[in-house]
Amino acid sequence: MQGNFVYHNPTKLYFGEESLEYLNAELENLGKTVLLNYGNGSVKRNGLYDEVVAILKAGGKTIVENAGVMSNPTLEKLNEGVHIARENKVDWILALGGGSVCDYSKGVAASVNYNGDYWRRFWLDGHNPEYGQEILPVGCILTMAGTGSEMNGGCVITDAEKNFKTGHVFDSRLMPRFAILNPRYTMTVPMEQMKAGIYDIMNHIMEQYFSGTDDNTSDYLSEGLMRSLISASRVAVKNPLDYEARSDIMWTATWALNTLIGCGKSQDWMVHMIGHSVGAWTHAPHGYTLAAVSLAYYQRAMEAGTAKFARFAHNVWEIPTEGKTEKELAVAGLEALRDWMTEIGLPLTISEIGADEKMVDDIVSTTVIYPAGYMDLKAEDIRAILKESL
Ligand code: NZQ
Ligand code: ZN
Repeated sequence: MQGNFVYHNPTKLYFGEESLEYLNAELENLGKTVLLNYGNGSVKRNGLYDEVVAILKAGGKTIVENAGVMSNPTLEKLNEGVHIARENKVDWILALGGGSVCDYSKGVAASVNYNGDYWRRFWLDGHNPEYGQEILPVGCILTMAGTGSEMNGGCVITDAEKNFKTGHVFDSRLMPRFAILNPRYTMTVPMEQMKAGIYDIMNHIMEQYFSGTDDNTSDYLSEGLMRSLISASRVAVKNPLDYEARSDIMWTATWALNTLIGCGKSQDWMVHMIGHSVGAWTHAPHGYTLAAVSLAYYQRAMEAGTAKFARFAHNVWEIPTEGKTEKELAVAGLEALRDWMTEIGLPLTISEIGADEKMVDDIVSTTVIYPAGYMDLKAEDIRAILKESL
């Protein structure tokens, strides 16, 4: 490994069918007034809301509710949550939902005690809170697998007026204090969202894997995670009620983006940057926006990073090396990726998720460009990738 790094992840995880039982013990360490954030009703329909409210009440907590945290949460909703938290002087925040609710809760937690323009400070300028600023503790009861938000500092918010979706990765102070992961909760997730989550997980791993040329322990971990995800996804799309598959997917999601497999590595993240911009204009599920631009993106990345794509073909997709050049092996790996995406029913083009040629310039204009894994991209490259993805 070539890189230097600090690994610190303070989130305590409770995993499995009995995991909600631990909420009560966590309550003892947290203040009286809790801001309960949730989405647009799934937790009421599946009964989880009632269970959680009963535990909070039995634990003597005063609940301040903030419903309607939408998928891909907006700046307007963030402002509303900060206002509610300030008015009610909440002591901590409980996120009950998917990555959107969990991200949103961290955003509120960071902003409540910042006396200034928190959107500019944290999201546009990319700062972390000053040491000394009070940050509200966040707990998360996760209902959907995908983002890894339950064990990371990520918080993605959309300025809907400007069609600008952007994330900030906060430092470990904003990682949830605890997260409760019961794979059973994910079984009511609609099929489309389950598939979007599966590709989100795959792409988190690929964003970290397809960069650098050094021999790196993190890449071996990534290969194992991808193999587990591919195997479990094939089962889950056929039988979404298969507990073993859903639990493997949920656990893989957490490890795909809790900072571990990025240790000591350069990383890419340009599929996410393009995907976020596609999402801001189409409002498609996050994982679908990534799938829709991936094939065109990785075709280019493969030309620049052929050796890593050849390794991907053999170590992840078990394609034999015999009789193939490195380039042929790399191409076969990408074909295997495309075949798997087709098999589980992911969109392969942005046209399938509501984008058209007329939107391309707008999407380019709101894409944040970073130095990519194996490429140095300019706006015209993003435009070309989007056109190839139509
Ligand atoms: O709002 P409700 O009614 O709860 O419905 C949600 C929502 O419509 C539904 N859902 C969730 N759990 C359910 C369920 N429906 C039935 N049963 C359940 N158990 O699923 C829909 C999608 O939920 P959402 O939370 O939006 O999905 P996801 O977990 O994919 O989160 C997406 C957000 O996370 C950001 C994305 O950009 C997007 O804003 N990301 C966060 C990251 C991070 N923290 O590191 C990294 C990711 O790359 C990503 O950018
Ligand atoms: Zn993602």
